Amino acid sequence: MEFSMAPMEGITNYIYRNAFGECYSGLNRYYSPFIAVHEGARMKRRDLKDILPENNRHPVIPQILTNNSDDCIKACRILWEMGFPEVNINMGCPSPTVTVKGRGSALLRDLQKLDAFLSDVCTSSDNIGLKISVKSRIGWEDPAEFEGILAVFAKYPLKELILHPRVTREGYGGTPHLEIFCKNLLSKCKFPVAYNGNIYQLSDYIKADEIMDFAGNCVDHVMLGRGLITRPYLAENLAKWDSCKSKMQDDASKSSQKDEKMRLRSFYETILEESKKEFGGEAQVLSHMKELVNYWAMGFTDGASYLKEMRKTKRLIELDILFKQLLVNEEVIIDDNNLKII
Ligand SMILES: Cc1cc2nc3c(=O)[nH]c(=O)nc-3n(C[C@H](O)[C@H](O)[C@H](O)COP(=O)(O)O)c2cc1C
Repeated sequence: MEFSMAPMEGITNYIYRNAFGECYSGLNRYYSPFIAVHEGARMKRRDLKDILPENNRHPVIPQILTNNSDDCIKACRILWEMGFPEVNINMGCPSPTVTVKGRGSALLRDLQKLDAFLSDVCTSSDNIGLKISVKSRIGWEDPAEFEGILAVFAKYPLKELILHPRVTREGYGGTPHLEIFCKNLLSKCKFPVAYNGNIYQLSDYIKADEIMDFAGNCVDHVMLGRGLITRPYLAENLAKWDSCKSKMQDDASKSSQKDEKMRLRSFYETILEESKKEFGGEAQVLSHMKELVNYWAMGFTDGASYLKEMRKTKRLIELDILFKQLLVNEEVIIDDNNLKII
């Protein structure tokens, strides 16, 4: 199985990805948070900076967000000229600020438009040898929509379809519709299908594999989002488990407390220092670090009460002190079914 870091806007920027690669392993690839493509294929300088090869120590697959095929084609060409062999298209974002413009998962609402969009984009990318992958949901309102959506995708030579099996109205809550993977629908695809959703710990991965039969469904890539942010050692544990299966079940999930705390501290320090250089102003750095500690704290016993305090902080130094207290006083929840992910 291959594992990748999910794109997460506001979190998995190049600083995060570089620091992650220094402190942790287990990932085969990284995806950039979405780059919004504006009229005329304009992309923000800040978004392009995030994917520039000189800023990335690990190869990144850029993800773009647009519903206009002309802009998409132009943006793909720009990215191809920058040296990217693959571009991922966001068809999964459920945020109303995105879908109101017909972007993200709103692309799944009108199958004729989706078909025309993919036809234009895939023809053009084929001409230049650029690979197109798609990150998608299974529908807008009802999982039954997926059959029709998949029939459209299946017409095109996608590099990969990364599937988050929820519909738009479900946001990121509730349980993913794993049955989609069991319905033999995916056998219609000529391209590989990757799974994404609610893998927070080893037991989730094992359970997901039992239900969805990754091998039987030719799933050889699992994309990790909130689980990996909360427990950055997650991909390592999953990869260890994969290589040794049941023999390693216990060992794979039990890294030492001390090692994990030291690694998280070094991960935190690296991101903090680099973010100070990137963002400049204390308020911006503080808000970014709060976003991260929101996740990390939930990977600790009683992380919730530290989180309450950390959210109230107005200075970086206060956050720093609280985070270090958390590292000293609390235990890392190595594998716990009660883990709560926000
Ligand atoms: C804060 C946040 C930001 C996200 N940003 C993106 C994004 O830029 N592009 C994208 O395709 N998905 C984005 N997602 C969705 C994740 O990539 C992933 O599909 C989702 O979190 C479900 O996977 P998980 O259950 O492993 O977290 C975001 C999710 C969250 C919570």
